[in-house]
Amino acid sequence: MIREIFQSGRPLTYIRSAEEQRVAKVLRQVALVLGAVPLPVWTWSLTEGLRRDGRPPEPGTEAPRKALDFIAAHSDAAIFHLKDFHDPLRDAPETRRRLRDVYEACLDNSKFVVVSSPVRYVPEELERSMIFVELRPPDPVELLEFLREETGAPEEALRPVASALLGLTVDEARYALRRALAGGKPLGPESLPLLLEEKRLLVGRTGVIEYIPEDTSISAIGGLEGLKTWLVERKELFAMRDRISAEIVPKGVLLMGIPGCGKSLSIKAIASAFQLPLYRIDMVEIFSGRHGKPEGAFVEACRLVEDLAPAVLWFDEIERGVTATETAGEQGRIFGFFLTWMQEKARGLFLAATANRIEMLPAEMIRKGRFDEVFFVDLPIDAERIEIFKIHLMRRGVDISGFNLANLTEFTKGWAGAEIEQCVVSAITRARLANRDVAEEDLIRIAAKMVPLSRTMHEQINKIRAWAFERAVRASPQAGDR
Ligand SMILES: Nc1ncnc2c1ncn2[C@@H]1O[C@H](COP(=O)(O)OP(=O)(O)O)[C@@H](O)[C@H]1O
Ligand SMILES: [Mg+2]
Repeated sequence: MIREIFQSGRPLTYIRSAEEQRVAKVLRQVALVLGAVPLPVWTWSLTEGLRRDGRPPEPGTEAPRKALDFIAAHSDAAIFHLKDFHDPLRDAPETRRRLRDVYEACLDNSKFVVVSSPVRYVPEELERSMIFVELRPPDPVELLEFLREETGAPEEALRPVASALLGLTVDEARYALRRALAGGKPLGPESLPLLLEEKRLLVGRTGVIEYIPEDTSISAIGGLEGLKTWLVERKELFAMRDRISAEIVPKGVLLMGIPGCGKSLSIKAIASAFQLPLYRIDMVEIFSGRHGKPEGAFVEACRLVEDLAPAVLWFDEIERGVTATETAGEQGRIFGFFLTWMQEKARGLFLAATANRIEMLPAEMIRKGRFDEVFFVDLPIDAERIEIFKIHLMRRGVDISGFNLANLTEFTKGWAGAEIEQCVVSAITRARLANRDVAEEDLIRIAAKMVPLSRTMHEQINKIRAWAFERAVRASPQAGDR
């Protein structure tokens, strides 16, 4: 791409990348193929000034202004790589002015100036003469080449390693690789957890994206049969994503509904079923202002995870972004971006969104065709509640062969899954304190005393239901008492 920019005759380029060395490497490669003879590459840094490959620096060129004078006066074709030149550009109008002169001096003279910096700063007056590009982290092919250079291992062994490293910069990949090799084991399946750990650290640094390592099987979800069937079907399609037409590749799902009924749990199960890592974007952090403007932070986070694909990306309580009225303008832009991005994002990325306060979501978002499906997760019906009891009792090693759980349906009308889990935990605690095994009686006694949230929040829940029935598919297709 850089080569195309140069060939089109544009003398000023701004490359945003944290990887100076990789930029330098790209420029050296371009320099070789650009003309009949290789172009010399000069580099500038604040500490060393301007120097041509391996030669001593030109005296006095540490000063940005002097460096630009030198470039303007230089009579031969060359590439000038100015590292971290955003600072001088930001600090001095004189530098910005001089760079415009340099533009004139380079035009049609086969002289190219490239600013590289980890941050974007293109001054307004240079906006039209300077082309801005972003150097994305290396793609699988580049990573594979890097791994071959570093390890000399056969390609077969390196391919899963390259997938695990996707989204990391070359430097980060090198670091991850060294850590994985430090254990003395050969590269292979055993080293993958170490590589993924490195990725987790990278993502954690952003403060708005969290890697969720949990493995949740579909069988951990009680009820919600409609959602489960859908999930099993989509899993097949997703696995075929590179061989089928883009239209039918699953791209995302929205789960909305009553709190505590298994939305978050289901998202974890989706990631496990798709055998993909799960990343959660924290909308509250995005809007906190701690990471700059919400819109910028959101876009940045989306781009980063795109580099981590294939993955499931989870927007938890996505409506949180919509509720704070003082940032209404930002929200409009964020949702606008989100809706477009959903259509054009990488194929390997599956978006999962969850919402409690669904009436806050823009209609645009719920409209057919945006998400593959919009599910409404309601309070569990009698049979589902029994299933949820079973799951939570058995998970905690309780022998339920002597239980008749049907006795519990009467006492647990209107309960959410989270409340059932709470009841199981209380019963086990009580039995343990009394130094005996849990009995069905314990469950019933606790259940009889508990007032579910749905009773105190009756109004709201009816509102959520009425609203959702028209707009979403029920995750639990069976009719029954709740
Ligand atoms: N349908 C369900 N099956 C099994 N457990 C459930 C179910 N619904 C809720 N739970 C339990 O309650 C906890 C909280 O539910 P969660 O998925 O976070 O609810 P939501 O995201 O809908 O508010 C879950 O981790 C799980 O232990
Ligand atoms: Mg949740």
